[in-house]
Amino acid sequence: MPPTPAATTTERTGGRRPVVRDNLATRALHGATALGVAVLLATGWWLWSGREGRPSVISRLVDEPDVEIHRSVGWALVVLAGLAMTLGVRGALTFVRETARVDRGDLRWFRRWPVGALTGRFARHEGLFDPGQRIANVLFVVSLGVVIGSGVALTTLSGGPTFATMVRVHRYATVALTVFVVGHLLVVSGLLPGYRGVWRAMVGRGRVPRATARRLWPRSVPDEPGPPDGAAPPDTPGG
Ligand code: HEM
Repeated sequence: MPPTPAATTTERTGGRRPVVRDNLATRALHGATALGVAVLLATGWWLWSGREGRPSVISRLVDEPDVEIHRSVGWALVVLAGLAMTLGVRGALTFVRETARVDRGDLRWFRRWPVGALTGRFARHEGLFDPGQRIANVLFVVSLGVVIGSGVALTTLSGGPTFATMVRVHRYATVALTVFVVGHLLVVSGLLPGYRGVWRAMVGRGRVPRATARRLWPRSVPDEPGPPDGAAPPDTPGG
């Protein structure tokens, strides 16, 4: 689901006015997906490495075999995706529209990305998501779609050439998804100075310092009409 337009959700807190970029439903969906994917990656890699007979830490914690945990959480992810596309259809459509957008200046944004990632001085873009996020969105949707589709096929098949193909597809998509998740964690960790503070958009109450939000998504965070203490926070990485 898409971020909430920041202009409508600003708050006053001691002279700084953070923006709530992602609403509660979006943050909850993101949190549930992240938790589900983490469990599926952990149990999936565990099974793939041939340790099915030995219970993993997760398996010992919930006292269920890894295969059962993997299947149940897999189905939970299917339900979650279904909810996002039905109850959250408006957000889902905005997500698709904003992910598919292409503007003049996007190429410039990519060319300047290394400078932006290191200094926080990104080139301007006009989207709700920056051009890099749009690519990440596509990679996540496709790899998750493939891993979910092949996983559902595995639960309904038992042996045969299609099963063998699905196992291969499920494995390849897992490798791709793992790479994307690691890349995503690297960006949101704030290790790259330009992205410092971005994690706040999806964690806890979702409040991002206004300067951080403006640096990353200038269009969706309009100029503040006048900060309460008359001093806007400087637009430098570090939120
Ligand atoms: C983030 C999503 C997922 C990841 C990363 C993932 C990863 C994996 C991996 C690596 C394996 C081991 C393959 C092997 O043993 O060679 C596996 C097995 C399996 N997965 Fe997934 N999976 C995901 C989602 C799902 C979903 C959504 C379902 C179904 C609803 C599912 C159903 C299964 C089944 C049935 C197996 C075979 C388990 C067995 O009987 O040994 N997976 N998964």
